[in-house]
Amino acid sequence: MTDKIAYTRHDDIAVLRIQNPPVNALSQAVRQGLWDAMERAEADAGVKAVVIVGEGRAFIAGADITEFGKPPTEPYLPILCNRIEASPLLVVASMHGVSLGGGLEVALSAHYRIAQPSAKVGLPEVNLGLIPGAGATQRLPRLTGAEKALEMITSGAPIKAEAARDLGILDRVAEGDPEAVGLAYAAELLADGATRRPVSELPPADAIDWDATYDAVLAKGRGQISPATAVRAVQVATELPFEQGLQKERDLFMELMQTDQRQGMIHAFFSERAVSNLPELKGVEPRSLNTIGVIGGGTMGAGIATAALLAGMDVVLIEMKPEAARAAHERISGNLSGALKRGKISQDKFDTLTEKALTVSTDYDSLSDVDLVVEAVFENMDVKKEVFAKLDSVCKPGCVLATNTSYLDVNEIAAATSRPADVIGLHFFSPAHIMKLLEVVVAEKTAKDVVATGFALGKALGKISVRAGVCDGFIGNRILATYRTAADHMVLDGASPYQIDKALVDFGFAMGPFAVADLAGLDIGWMTRKRKAPDRHPDERVPTYIDKLCEEGHFGQKTGEGYYIYAAGKRAGVPNPKIAELIAAEQAELGITPRPFTDEDIVRRYMCAMVNEAAKVVGEGIARRPLDVDMTLLFGYGFPRYWGGPMKWADIQGLPSVLADIQRYAQDDAWFWQPAPLLEDLAAQGRTFDDLNKDAAK
Ligand code: 3HC
Ligand code: NAI
Repeated sequence: MTDKIAYTRHDDIAVLRIQNPPVNALSQAVRQGLWDAMERAEADAGVKAVVIVGEGRAFIAGADITEFGKPPTEPYLPILCNRIEASPLLVVASMHGVSLGGGLEVALSAHYRIAQPSAKVGLPEVNLGLIPGAGATQRLPRLTGAEKALEMITSGAPIKAEAARDLGILDRVAEGDPEAVGLAYAAELLADGATRRPVSELPPADAIDWDATYDAVLAKGRGQISPATAVRAVQVATELPFEQGLQKERDLFMELMQTDQRQGMIHAFFSERAVSNLPELKGVEPRSLNTIGVIGGGTMGAGIATAALLAGMDVVLIEMKPEAARAAHERISGNLSGALKRGKISQDKFDTLTEKALTVSTDYDSLSDVDLVVEAVFENMDVKKEVFAKLDSVCKPGCVLATNTSYLDVNEIAAATSRPADVIGLHFFSPAHIMKLLEVVVAEKTAKDVVATGFALGKALGKISVRAGVCDGFIGNRILATYRTAADHMVLDGASPYQIDKALVDFGFAMGPFAVADLAGLDIGWMTRKRKAPDRHPDERVPTYIDKLCEEGHFGQKTGEGYYIYAAGKRAGVPNPKIAELIAAEQAELGITPRPFTDEDIVRRYMCAMVNEAAKVVGEGIARRPLDVDMTLLFGYGFPRYWGGPMKWADIQGLPSVLADIQRYAQDDAWFWQPAPLLEDLAAQGRTFDDLNKDAAK
């Protein structure tokens, strides 16, 4: 027996305690240990029941994800589950913390299940591009019916113990030490003469409308295939005998294991955890974060204040004038009432947050006691410098001074203070209380504990924090500017904005770039083009057709007209006929003969532009690792999670093929398509972006 399972005997009951910290993932050693421990219990004279428990913070978090993609090793989990279920002994699973994926599947193979009230059970495999592969698609519907089983499997969301009991997944919910509770339950079952109760022997669930369900789940997945595949696996549980159903589940599971989507989603899983793990911050203590100051209560300031309030911090918000202060207060109350409506906070909590935890003022002296300030005033260097000079004079020593600037130079802002080591960029995304991404922008003189405080704030606010260096647009907006330009070029050359949006939504993006531009406001791009015009290289191709729409006062959704026209109260628009005319006029002026683009070509050019700029961002050290770019695009820019991020996408395509396409595009526009040196190096060495992630983890 491996050392992953501790075997103890308590009268006629054996306890199998899984000891594989931190979350008891079912590695080969755990599976082997459980197998051997079952054999030992069955051979142990007088043992009548087995209780399986987990040590530490979870029962079992599922299969060991680090083993995926490697050749499977025996004993395979589905066989182990069958072996547990087939045991002549009475098997009880006593669960606490999470029982996820294979963890729940082990429990479903036990004959009885008991869990702590705080326990959660779930089947998150779809979030890894998979379906349950050790019997849950066959056993769960036998307990809950097909519909409820599908809800759990296709959403991947865990449910609480009491809900699981109501669905028939658990037999009992009981407070107490899992081992003691499990032993008492097993003893009671033995005393009552309870018999083995294999779930696989229960009658199959009733059929539902499988094709309609499949289509609905496929559409909801926006290109993700695993949830829809799960529908077919559950379907066979109602149509075939258990053993054949299990085989079909295994076949579908193994098929998904070979897909790019599985690779992408597992990359996302580990990157999400690695992204905030910076070696330079090991042992560096963040500063305290009890009270937060926010300067400017517009869209961003109000969102940041809302996020901080929801995380339990006190907030002091500064506006310029009393009316603006009132408007800011209303904006924050509006955000919080959204949380109230969704049941995230109670009315009492809402009242405390808006009346006690939040102070809105026009007096900078109210900031004298805050631990960290985020400035979110207009995007103008002179205004920002003035604000930072004021902050320097009123904030206590050690207060972290952060700017939410989108593009401006954080070094220059820091130089407006006498304490540049305390200055950092904290770049939130709109709406700041909802979007998960936070770019922590480290300037030349930023102190390490200030960086650690930026990450600590991100964690407290429930964000995914990514370290970025200083450059125009940092990681995300800089890369966005480039792939947006690639889309603009395609429009000039003959693709319509609507074809481009559709091709990219079909690829898996939440929205296409032109719909996003309408949402963010066309005035932003217009101002940026004006700002950059003086330094523009003569070879740079910049479409100006959309500026003509801006000149007429049309800025996208907020004015009802942009690339699309928006009927009052509608979020989705219809193509604006003016756009085609403006594009045609510009093409005529530039002497361009429009040519057709396939959707595939659109996606390829867009992605190659993204990857090329991302490789420059990594090569220059603005992002430390390719995974930092991947997480930025995933959590801030609606990049489809099942591709893992643009760098992972490029790895899957093969870097030489991505580079070859960039070189081919460069034949027409050598200025825009300058290959990133890092991409050239990796392609020449036969290495991948993920190799750089691995190097950084060493
Ligand atoms: N395999 C391998 N490592 C795992 C793991 C797993 N299933 N689950 C978590 N870990 C690792 C994490 O990578 C992390 O490692 P690190 O400390 O080196 O970064 C460590 O365990 C702790 O994890 P978290 O930081 O995520 O801790 P939390 O307490 O925040 O969350 C959790 C715990 C809810 C268990 C969360 O880790 C999680 O959701 N894990 C994945 C669960 C999952 O997807 N299970 C299904 C696996 S697929 C399967 O079972 C297939 C089967 O059907 C055949
Ligand atoms: P906004 O125009 O909605 O709000 C700015 C607010 O700052 C206004 O309410 C204004 O009254 C206030 N203000 C201006 N000068 C001030 C001063 N000296 N003292 C106190 N208050 C002052 O602007 P928005 O969109 O909230 O942007 C703010 C900052 O956040 C900008 O730097 C912007 O680039 C950045 N940002 C914006 C994003 C967005 O999607 N809107 C996303 C990420 C960053």
